[in-house]
Amino acid sequence: MVSIKSEREIKLMREAGKILAKVHEELGKAIEPGMSTMDIDRLGERLIRSYGCIPSFKNYNGYPASICVSVNDEVVHGIPNKHHILREGDIVSLDAGVIWQGYHSDAARTHGVGTISPEAAKLIEVTRQSFFEGIKFAVPGNHLNDISAAIQKYAESFGYGVVRDLVGHGIGTKLHEEPEVPNFSQKRKGIRLEPGMTLAVEPMITAGRYDVVWLDDDWTVVTDDGSLAAHYENTILITEDGPEILSLSDEDREQ
Ligand code: MF3
Ligand code: CO
Repeated sequence: MVSIKSEREIKLMREAGKILAKVHEELGKAIEPGMSTMDIDRLGERLIRSYGCIPSFKNYNGYPASICVSVNDEVVHGIPNKHHILREGDIVSLDAGVIWQGYHSDAARTHGVGTISPEAAKLIEVTRQSFFEGIKFAVPGNHLNDISAAIQKYAESFGYGVVRDLVGHGIGTKLHEEPEVPNFSQKRKGIRLEPGMTLAVEPMITAGRYDVVWLDDDWTVVTDDGSLAAHYENTILITEDGPEILSLSDEDREQ
């Protein structure tokens, strides 16, 4: 069952999203060569708690940190480590989730560390844009697959790989609710989109092939061919007028 959120729930999810947007904004500003992926997690957890929220990833199915920090060929769910130091030219994907008064928000951004190659910058920008291309279809009466197909079409037009083994999801009182939100086209149209649905739309895009593998830590997902990967995610609300992005700062909106 895909839940339809009430006005009260939507208000709380807007608040959760605003807080998460701020956390990402501050984390983005803090990224610099020489810091460890553990430093990012510590700062992220501190920020989340400073806003009165709970970091939803911590201990989720045994995940040991608050922020997933995935560097270069790591796609998602990288585990922060004090020995993993960010270097100039790396790209780093930060995925974070908060719980505010019982309601979740989930968002991810990929940042460059210092100066990065034009190829890496393009991958980050196309991944971000693929999210916006997808949610143009997040309109009542459309179907879920309209979003998925638009993300895939845009990303593949640049020759990039669209990860198949992980997908977006519904979100609300739980981090993962129905439906699954793939970033690639399905045979089925999927559910009809209705006002009050809240989704985490999260393209994971690679500069090479789309195949991924899990490392021995059972969490970190890396590209099989070693190519770079980027991740961009927001929690959105379907409204009568189309998508409302809940986890975006005003600064991001203007870009
Ligand atoms: N954004 C991720 C997702 O939707 C959450 C990370 S899973 C966790 O699956 F275990 F790290 F929390
Ligand atoms: Co998610």
